[in-house]
Amino acid sequence: MCGIVGYIGSKNTKKILINGLKELEYRGYDSAGIAVLSNGNFSSFKSVGKLVNLEKRTKDFETRGFAVGIGHTRWATHGKPTELNAHPHTGVNAYVVHNGIIENYAELKKELLKEGALFLSQTDTEVIVHQFEKNLKDLKNAFKAFEKTISELKGAYAILLVTKEEENTIFFAKNGSPMLIGINKENDKYFASSDTPLIGECREVNYFEDGDYGYVTQNELVIYDKNNTQKEPHFIQLATNKLSAQKEGFRFFMEKEIYEQSSVIADTLLGRLNENEVFFDELEENFFEGINEIKLCACGTSYHSALTASYLFERYAKIKTSVEIASEFRYRSPLMSKDTLFVVISQSGETADTLETLKMAKQSGLKTLVICNVDNSSMVRIADRAILTRAGIEKGVASTKAFATQVTVFWMLALHVAQSKKTLTEDELTQHIHYLRAIPTSVHVEDAMHERIKRLSKRYLHGHGFFFIGRDVFFPLALEGALKLKEISYLHAEGYPSGEMKHGPIALADPELFTIALLPQHMLYEKSKSNVEELSARDSTICAISPLEFDKADDFIQTKEHPHYMLEFFEMMVVVQLLSLEISIRLGNDVDMPRNLAKSVTVE
Ligand code: F6R
Repeated sequence: MCGIVGYIGSKNTKKILINGLKELEYRGYDSAGIAVLSNGNFSSFKSVGKLVNLEKRTKDFETRGFAVGIGHTRWATHGKPTELNAHPHTGVNAYVVHNGIIENYAELKKELLKEGALFLSQTDTEVIVHQFEKNLKDLKNAFKAFEKTISELKGAYAILLVTKEEENTIFFAKNGSPMLIGINKENDKYFASSDTPLIGECREVNYFEDGDYGYVTQNELVIYDKNNTQKEPHFIQLATNKLSAQKEGFRFFMEKEIYEQSSVIADTLLGRLNENEVFFDELEENFFEGINEIKLCACGTSYHSALTASYLFERYAKIKTSVEIASEFRYRSPLMSKDTLFVVISQSGETADTLETLKMAKQSGLKTLVICNVDNSSMVRIADRAILTRAGIEKGVASTKAFATQVTVFWMLALHVAQSKKTLTEDELTQHIHYLRAIPTSVHVEDAMHERIKRLSKRYLHGHGFFFIGRDVFFPLALEGALKLKEISYLHAEGYPSGEMKHGPIALADPELFTIALLPQHMLYEKSKSNVEELSARDSTICAISPLEFDKADDFIQTKEHPHYMLEFFEMMVVVQLLSLEISIRLGNDVDMPRNLAKSVTVE
């Protein structure tokens, strides 16, 4: 995920900015840059790849005395990770860095282009600086121009902007993306998008709230709130431990990433929906023309998201869909027909088996698409088209938010195809889009829910095995729940279709067999319930996850009532993630780095 730093003061500005960016490296990035305004002159440097490249670029650059500077690490969303797309972005007399997504950038850009603005990058961010310069021409006042610019942006942002017009000032705005400011004894001011760059530099910080904007100079900090009313900063003590600051108060990165799902899914949706349409800038209008079948191919958790997708594609887009495990597909001389769209799904974009199947499909002349979290990864470079999931870097080896964003993309994609094939009515599409917008709320972790799962987890530390069971899309979710648990707890767990238990596994049922039953209200509830009753009658220990009370269970985790089964899916996804997490923490395991596993599996 992108990172922001800013500095205004008389210390070594370059060093402060680059050191600050280093503290944000753990969030992942693919390019970086800084811009420094000193004695009326801008110096700007950008580089692709690691920060050592930026250090090399800036080797001969030094500032003396007072300067203002901004810096950025970019995790590509709009446009490839190139130097031109790296931040800071400039117009004529100003530079900007930005985290988040400007939802209405395309409209703004169209107007700006008409008026002669010269765009150098493919990013959404660049519109901010051109819009600012356009407003500056009209208003002749930098702060007024900045204020107007912010009011014209839709979407999520943390923004820092510097301009020659006010050379001792940094303008800032925050809405939906985090940003804070710290001030040290010498009255120097530091900005960052998370705590770590400020630890050791300042003792007290002010966290901006959504809608806050304003400016700082050497002697002033002026903040306005979302109602354009000036407000006082609220400084609080900064944490001192960097690793725990990176975890933002969570015990493990995996826990932090579970909590982050709401905001990253909001990013996944941004700019891809309007009232009754789902669109992907990445795909041309006729991308699905001539496609009669979809083949999805992946490994592990990504395979589970693909399985989920197969239900959605067939149900809504009425297109024949099959799912393949990449390591199997590679060696079974598969038949491939040219009217098939071959889709690979990979968080990393580097998984060897999946990558190989993508190459096979290309060699067979199939149209290919990758759903991926890492721009410029091998799969993104090879596939005909790529849709980025925008989950940000995932540090926990056990995937959580990457899976959540993959499923979100697939639901949108199924609707996108349904829209072009007219297999859903306009009303149905509008309804789905309304539900899609509710995903971020459905995955929000409630304290009471987390506490309940924490308490329950102590009853599930032994036994001779877990069965996660569900029907329809809740079957892949059951597979995913079981995979999460076994990866980090080292307990044996299987995912199974609820209706299939009676064909064999029910023989295992006894009090030491733990059944985690997914019982959504809006998908085959009665059928799933009787499957669980069969297990309950054979004395299996049942933990039911459902919005509806279920008296045949030993334990019951009550989820909220949602109007659509996919929203139930997303809430239950969080429940099984948290359950695995809490069981594993109780067992004393290193949840973020489970034994024998690697984050990216680049070998066969
Ligand atoms: C499980 C997990 C793995 C990956 C699998 C594929 O938590 O993360 O099962 O899903 O190794 O990785 P990607 O998605 O990078 O291709």
